[in-house]
Amino acid sequence: MTKLKITETSLRDGHQSLIATRLTTDEILPVLSEMDKAGYHAMEVWGGATFDTCLRYLNEDPWDRLRKVRAHVKNTKLQMLSRGQNILGYRNYPDDIVERFHKNAIFEGIDIVRVFDALNDIRNLKKTIETVKSEGAHCQCAISYTTSPVHTKEYYVKLIKDFENAGADSICIKDMSGILLPFDAYHLIKAIKKVTKLPLELHTHCTGGIGEMTVLTAVEAGIDIVDTAISPLSSGTSQPATESLCLALRGTERDPGLNLDSLNNIADYFKDVMKKYEENGTLNIKVLMTEPKALIYQIPGGMLSNLLVQMKSLNAVDKFQEVLDEVPRVRKDLGYPPLVTPMSQMVGAQAVFNVISGGRYNIIPTEIRNYVRGMYGRPAAPISDDIKELIIGNEEVITVRPADLLEDSYDRLREEIGYLAKSEQDVLSYALFPQVAKSFFEKRDSGDVPCCHTASSNRTL
Ligand code: CO
Repeated sequence: MTKLKITETSLRDGHQSLIATRLTTDEILPVLSEMDKAGYHAMEVWGGATFDTCLRYLNEDPWDRLRKVRAHVKNTKLQMLSRGQNILGYRNYPDDIVERFHKNAIFEGIDIVRVFDALNDIRNLKKTIETVKSEGAHCQCAISYTTSPVHTKEYYVKLIKDFENAGADSICIKDMSGILLPFDAYHLIKAIKKVTKLPLELHTHCTGGIGEMTVLTAVEAGIDIVDTAISPLSSGTSQPATESLCLALRGTERDPGLNLDSLNNIADYFKDVMKKYEENGTLNIKVLMTEPKALIYQIPGGMLSNLLVQMKSLNAVDKFQEVLDEVPRVRKDLGYPPLVTPMSQMVGAQAVFNVISGGRYNIIPTEIRNYVRGMYGRPAAPISDDIKELIIGNEEVITVRPADLLEDSYDRLREEIGYLAKSEQDVLSYALFPQVAKSFFEKRDSGDVPCCHTASSNRTL
């Protein structure tokens, strides 16, 4: 067996999981040259919630961050997390936006695009895979890991064959909720390794207290790459710590061989940065506490705390347990969707309504109706006719790829946003988050945004 490779996640999932994605570009830049020396296989630095947060809360242009990160990281591959047809947003976008967005990300320096779909519906990944490949970048397809009677080893093995046939360069087991048990991981990895030669990566979270154990059994099973975060941005709802894994594997044939001096310097730097977030309350001790209930209810830690907040605001904390028991029933009704954005929010809302409105499906959010109409893709298990009728009556369910129903919209959006957009990338920001991007552009025009944000790239596609 060869040495283990490490993808460092602190600049994407690490701060997304622990401090609501609040690291600023100014906080990221000073440590990049040291990170570039550590010997990582890759650094995940963009995508996920980073894009939205830059525009919405940090008054930063996310494209500008990517350019600056790339300028400082000369040797290490940069990775982004994409939601495929949902790009970095929460709904399906038309193909022209999906294509232009990923082209621009790769042009600005992304080497590896990790792409997933909340329903593991490969039709929602195809446009992204095609674009990433045609731009010459590495396309990693991720399975959204969940458990259910239909999410068997065979289900995942078939999915991986589909990924391979669609052109995937590598595969990731994305355990966004941290519910992958150590020995399930072992057997799953062994089974996947039997059917594909593609490199296999594991992404998990420490939420339930088993992240490190799962990583270790994965290493035993022959995983090629593992996601970790530098210690000050690790553990709790984040990934296992980079240094600890390296130390645990020291002297073995799987030793990742990272530069431990560099890792220490990076950790010291982030310890300082994190002080600010501890002091201003952004770093909540709850996210660092082990939450085994995430394993019992099979729901992500973030969803647990969101549900509790919702129940408090409804003055119904006494019904919290009922909601927790209702979540798996709603999941079953809906064909066992994995609880990842946006499904986790949708299933959670429906469970709350079912409990507090005095009857199941008395109140049904539009998103749930659209989901049952097939607008998000195909669930792993079919939805029963009874549930279908309850939620959408006699309406037809679409069977085509959902994005086939969307018209290309780049030209229309460019016209709509007008002079406020200074580049193609601005139009793409606007396409993903119209209100948020517009208000960012207005602030930028009036000089309310501190640094210069006119796109340095004049890329035209
Ligand atoms: Co994650």
